[in-house]
Amino acid sequence: MNIIYHEQSRQFHLTNNQISYVIGFCDSGELLQYYFGKKIHDRDCFEAQCSKGIKPMMCSPADHENFTLELSRLEYPVFGTGDYRTSAYEILQENGSRVTRFEYLSHDIVEGKPSIDGLPATYCNDDTEALTLILSLKDELSQVVCKLFYSIFEDYSVIARHVEFVNEGDKKVRILKAYSLNLDLPDQDYEWMHFQGAWARERMPVTSAVTGGRLSVESMRGISSANYNPFVILKRPATTEDNGEAIGIHLLYSGNFIAFAEADPFGMLRAAIGINDKWFDWPLESGKEFATPEAILTYSAEGLNGLSHSVHDLFNNNLVRSPYKNQVRPILLNNWEATNMDFDEASILKIASKGQEAGVELFVLDDGWFGKRDDDHAGLGDWYVNTKKLPEGISGLSRKINEMGLKMGLWIEPEMVNEDSDLYRAHPEWVLSIPGRPKTLGRTQLVLDFSNPEVVDAIYDMLYKVFEDANLSYIKWDMNRSLTEVFSSNKSADEQGTVYHKYVLGMYSLYERLIKAFPNILFESCSSGGARFDAGMLYYAPQAWCSDDTDAFERMKIQYGTSYGYPIVSMGSHVSVSPNQQTGRCISIDTRANVAYFGTFGYELDLNELSDEEFEKVKKQIVFMKKYREIIQYGDFYRVKSPYNENIASWMSVKKDKSVAICAIYRNYTPVNGGYQRIKLTGLDPDMLYEDENGKTYYGDYLMNIGLDVQDNDQLWFYDVGDYRSKVVVLNRK
Ligand code: GLA
Repeated sequence: MNIIYHEQSRQFHLTNNQISYVIGFCDSGELLQYYFGKKIHDRDCFEAQCSKGIKPMMCSPADHENFTLELSRLEYPVFGTGDYRTSAYEILQENGSRVTRFEYLSHDIVEGKPSIDGLPATYCNDDTEALTLILSLKDELSQVVCKLFYSIFEDYSVIARHVEFVNEGDKKVRILKAYSLNLDLPDQDYEWMHFQGAWARERMPVTSAVTGGRLSVESMRGISSANYNPFVILKRPATTEDNGEAIGIHLLYSGNFIAFAEADPFGMLRAAIGINDKWFDWPLESGKEFATPEAILTYSAEGLNGLSHSVHDLFNNNLVRSPYKNQVRPILLNNWEATNMDFDEASILKIASKGQEAGVELFVLDDGWFGKRDDDHAGLGDWYVNTKKLPEGISGLSRKINEMGLKMGLWIEPEMVNEDSDLYRAHPEWVLSIPGRPKTLGRTQLVLDFSNPEVVDAIYDMLYKVFEDANLSYIKWDMNRSLTEVFSSNKSADEQGTVYHKYVLGMYSLYERLIKAFPNILFESCSSGGARFDAGMLYYAPQAWCSDDTDAFERMKIQYGTSYGYPIVSMGSHVSVSPNQQTGRCISIDTRANVAYFGTFGYELDLNELSDEEFEKVKKQIVFMKKYREIIQYGDFYRVKSPYNENIASWMSVKKDKSVAICAIYRNYTPVNGGYQRIKLTGLDPDMLYEDENGKTYYGDYLMNIGLDVQDNDQLWFYDVGDYRSKVVVLNRK
């Protein structure tokens, strides 16, 4: 790993064994992008790969009439000086102008990686893991300094980027846009992949051809959202799961975002990601600073699986901060689908006790334990126990759960309030709402104004008491509606454009304080299922509830899509009841577990209601997961066969040393009298001899080139008879 500065050409080359990233200043002073991709040899002066010179109808900077920004690959572009593509930032100055001209001021190359105040960021476990270039530019007229941060890690094919603005002038400016990353690629031979969905069908991959113009996804919901994820991929059209080039772009942020790819008429492709600039207006007083969230740029020459491996490892090793970092996750039992809010201490203890008998490690009490919370019309905001349901409080319940040998976990939704709550009656001004206008409800609740530190303090105090009083090992932090009427009654008109972002900062600050006060708690984030499943969240909560859709065949698609950008160990996945509560579909307990294994794993049903035969299977499933979870959660995950359009889907986790592989194959419908079918595995050592549980042996090259025979032949049932069947095959080095 190295960051080389070529003084003559004023170029910087960031490189490790896998990638190179080259930027530098041209004669007219602009910061250009020269290269991002597979590692290449260094040279004193890289040449810009783009059209040279100037074409008709283009503008050029004074004294540089043969140069135009419009044909340049720009590192952090502004609008208004001759580049007509989408700009990366916009600063409104006192005289009304939005034009700036940032020129080289200084640069610094430091060991390690600085943190970003109040925001999530990847970090180094020790400073030898990464190098950081801090490139400072200054706009002389406004005296605003723009610092561009680039970190390269020794072990990953990623560049971490963010931007900080410092107002060194004596006049206030307004930041109207500040993206985290801009990337100008020299060709358009790409496809754009994004991950879209809605409640209960999150993160479905969508691939679009890059043609002329702009493709974009965004959120204006105040959360990253189930609808579009702040993670996109640019891949070569021929790239597959295992071969070819792909570029991943993640934003480590949990609020409004935008990501786009813009194909210009001159053969270049601009991609960018950042906080959505709609409704964003940040006054920057003299002497103040503003930092953007971090973006992660990933390069893979080994297909989409290669891209996923880089980000899974980066996030597991250098983003997650919990004591559960790189630790297997407890197998949990959650009462939500078993009871909803209708429970008392006896019914909870009965469910937990059956979980203990089955071998689960953690019991989680979901929504309904606080205030007057008997349905979703009341109680949010009143974070003190409902003693009618739990006479001895959470502390009494957690003591009894602990006595069973189980850890205790609890559900909270701290950002919300119901109108029917003591908190709202005492502080109606603490919600996001516009004076004189009606309030829009979502799930009959309002959103607390987390841009106001007083509100965050009050919630912290209430939660602190509950957490301190009980022996809690786990918290499920929910967030069940999108933001509306985003207006803060404790801010002036001048500051209303900061509210969306300050809300996110307030939410992060509450996480940070609770993590510091209760360092042993495992946090799982949730937002009506997976509506805030993003890389920013993983910095605070190392796992996230993937979706409220727990139907195994739907879930497989959701987990498959999520795996492109997020580690397997980050995906909350449970076995729930059949017929499924969302789809009514009946799926065997075996297949429900075969899908849920590939995540954190747990149960979300009343185990007392299972037949004896099913309960025995549950016990075996827990034994299986305890044995193999380390490989499933921290091995290399390979997507083998897509579930979206075909009858058979497959994925597998391979231990890092390749000595064990756990392969799952799922079959949707039973074809009658079907044809020959096989699955070619991937990621194995071709020269290693593997043995399955029946003692059958195969070399890795056999399994990867000939494959596993999975045909539906009467004599050779690979699966049980019936629809929605599946099989998990464990291959061990012989
Ligand atoms: C959300 C979550 C569910 C459950 C309910 C409780 O919908 O996604 O898992 O916790 O809230 O109200």
